[in-house]
Amino acid sequence: MGDMTRIDKNPRTGGNAVEVRGLVKHYGSTKALDGVDLDVREGTVLGVLGPNGAGKTTLVRCLSTLILPDAGHAVVAGYDVVRQPRQLRRTIGLTGQYASVDEKLSGWENLYMIGRLLDLPRKKARSRADDLLERFSLTDAAKKAAMDYSGGMRRRLDLAASMIGSPSVLYLDEPTTGLDPRTRNEVWDEVQRMVAEGATVLLTTQYMEEAEQLASELTVIDHGRIIARGGVDELKAKVGGRTLQIRPSDPSELAAMARALRETGLDGVAGAQAVPDEGLLYVPILSDEQLTAVIGLLGTRGFSLAHVATALPSLDEVFLAITGGKTTATETIPQEVAA
Ligand SMILES: Nc1ncnc2c1ncn2[C@@H]1O[C@H](COP(=O)(O)OP(=O)(O)O)[C@@H](O)[C@H]1O
Ligand SMILES: [Mg+2]
Repeated sequence: MGDMTRIDKNPRTGGNAVEVRGLVKHYGSTKALDGVDLDVREGTVLGVLGPNGAGKTTLVRCLSTLILPDAGHAVVAGYDVVRQPRQLRRTIGLTGQYASVDEKLSGWENLYMIGRLLDLPRKKARSRADDLLERFSLTDAAKKAAMDYSGGMRRRLDLAASMIGSPSVLYLDEPTTGLDPRTRNEVWDEVQRMVAEGATVLLTTQYMEEAEQLASELTVIDHGRIIARGGVDELKAKVGGRTLQIRPSDPSELAAMARALRETGLDGVAGAQAVPDEGLLYVPILSDEQLTAVIGLLGTRGFSLAHVATALPSLDEVFLAITGGKTTATETIPQEVAA
């Protein structure tokens, strides 16, 4: 998935919407940004991955003209962040980890106010507020105070607010941190829609899965430095894919299950490993189709499964893999066994 929304409308002539070279920002002895280079191609999503304190927000703040870099330079939509802040601000949208929404105002009032602050005429600000509330499925809550919005509604309002000035470049700074999975999906849908309509997005996240869903290119940042970059698949390959963990109802069937899988010749199942001590069968998973096929096949062969889970490579693993360490930590997401 994702490829449909990663259409670069003008792959030959499309330049970089964001160009960052040697960006440095110090806070006392903390090197929040320690010489960052990156490009975001027009009409694409760059995922900037990094743990807490990596420098993601500092990067976004520099690129939004909210703070001045100590060294290096950055150009966004053709405007220099230091020399042309006013012009630059008109072409960007910013959705922060900490929303810029006024709690006491209604959703509609928030959007209208921001439109007026951006110098939109009253009528235009009004229609823009209406349109965006509709688009983010907030029309029913238009008159409700933002403080009475759910977490997901707040995030959608925040996204809508960042869209008021029809920005060509959007910064999304950890847009789903702290959201439940369902709400996270709603936000992802909106972002994908914006990108399908041609926006360029710089997305910071701590979630591999989010980066996978939304970004075509990834940059991994830690301690203010870029430690890896590449396509999503490229980076995933470095870390290793998902692993399916299967616990049969009858542990003595482990070996037979592994054999049955290997005999099918399905992609990836050659790596199936039975670990009798744990009572588990581990199968490397390369695609959702393969995952479905493996579970289906075991059912057809009459094996009874007590528990099935997939283990994703965690961000820790990404960093460990990138820095040459051993990969041990895994984030296990239990999945229901298909009936
Ligand atoms: N205003 C500030 N004053 C002092 N230190 C800061 C400030 N903002 C960020 N830092 C420090 O800079 C580093 C990078 O922070 P930040 O950019 O917020 O990281 P991230 O967004 O990736 O979590 C951290 O060590 C953080 O403590
Ligand atoms: Mg941050």
